[in-house]
Amino acid sequence: MVDWEKVIEWDRKYYLGIKQALREWTPIPVAKVEGSYLVTPNGGRILDFLSGLISVNAGQRQPKVVEAIKEALDRYGYVWEFMQTPYKSEAAKLIVEDVLGPDGWAGRVRFVNSGSEANEEAFILSRLYTNRPYIIAREYAYHGWTTGAGSCCGLRWWRGSIASPTTEEHREVPGFQHGGFLVVAPAPHCYRCPYGYGDPKRCTVNGVRACINALWRQILGLGPQNVAAVITEIISGGGLIVSPKEWVRELRELTRKNGILWIDDEVMTGFGRTGRWFCYQHYGVTPDVMTMGKGIVSSQLPAAGVVVSKELAEFFEEYRWWHANTYAAHPVSMAAVVANIKLMMEEKLVERAAETGEYLGRRLRELEREHECVGEVSGMGLFWGVELVRDKETKEPFFPEDRFTRGTGDLGRWAVNIVQAKALERGVLVGGFAPNCLRIGPALTVTREEVDRGVEALDYAFTELDKLCRA
Ligand SMILES: Cc1ncc(COP(=O)(O)O)c(C=O)c1O
Repeated sequence: MVDWEKVIEWDRKYYLGIKQALREWTPIPVAKVEGSYLVTPNGGRILDFLSGLISVNAGQRQPKVVEAIKEALDRYGYVWEFMQTPYKSEAAKLIVEDVLGPDGWAGRVRFVNSGSEANEEAFILSRLYTNRPYIIAREYAYHGWTTGAGSCCGLRWWRGSIASPTTEEHREVPGFQHGGFLVVAPAPHCYRCPYGYGDPKRCTVNGVRACINALWRQILGLGPQNVAAVITEIISGGGLIVSPKEWVRELRELTRKNGILWIDDEVMTGFGRTGRWFCYQHYGVTPDVMTMGKGIVSSQLPAAGVVVSKELAEFFEEYRWWHANTYAAHPVSMAAVVANIKLMMEEKLVERAAETGEYLGRRLRELEREHECVGEVSGMGLFWGVELVRDKETKEPFFPEDRFTRGTGDLGRWAVNIVQAKALERGVLVGGFAPNCLRIGPALTVTREEVDRGVEALDYAFTELDKLCRA
């Protein structure tokens, strides 16, 4: 029997928590997880429309994954990466050959433990391969919390900063920002185009989009021979940007022409989230380096990875890579990765995400038509974003600092948190990482009935937010 009073007391007293000042520390207590639901200590059931951190792709505690973890624990506690286990080899084969093989570009994969590490690794190997120092990241991006990945986050308050809940005081990690080797490029934010174009189809200059032109000028400023890679999320998890097809294709052309690698961060968009195994597959391009996390193991254990193209793999054939990580390719995590991917294949979860996602998208677009506070709905598969606005016509955001907030003051004022609180009254968990950006991403196993339940809760929450819109 768990003593929840003690759990909460110890958590409040001893845990160095995030996202709230410790004196306002009030996370949701969770007694267990069941399917798409979080069960609270008093037996309440919350439909998790965020599937953890948009990460429990194949659903919680899938019996085949649980069995695989138990079996691996019977055979191995720990062995390090520089030894061979059946799980690591099979996980690598499944990803490089079975999932990515048909696209023809993937050479090898290395496993690490988190999306942040996967991105650090991508930076290291891109710099080694090109022998160039700079990495270019994009506005509004989130790539993780470690020094390299964290410093290329375009959402500035998420770069490990601290912020006061009561005043405007905030502090970024000294020396962290852009770490001396990272540069931020404009995002193709067509909803509020920073270059003033109203129509994303008419923003090209000399056959190239305005924001790609700006990126090219940044590259010229650094010297193309100094740029190792550009890293992007094709759909940004926090910032809600869905990159237009032309933008991704123009980026690919630009990087290829200049010997610059394209790192495709699929930590959130990967493993079926967008209705294809990986988001790049919607765009008719292939990356040089792809980072993965979350859905690779449906977050049941820590695991992540970085895939390199055949050209990069060939380069690494020739060298010793003096590089170690105690937990890389941990056998128990690898067993879970194998079981998770096989389950996704057997149950056709990617196809299912595409189908249910179409339904979810349709229902969200109905809400877009019905509610004043919904400026735009965007996404694909089971990865959707809602731009919350005070004025639909002018696109004025509720929270003026929008994606450039410093995270200070009363977070209860953030439109996204108002929606979260209201939806929770209806037993549904939604939320987001930026003040006016609502993120939705249920497990790929979500049913239509659960989608309806989630949409009803959103309808209720948006009705409340509508009352704060300009008349
Ligand atoms: C696109 C993206 N990249 C990287 C990360 C970092 O992954 P992790 O939290 O596993 O370090 C995240 C986490 O949310 C993410 O969304």
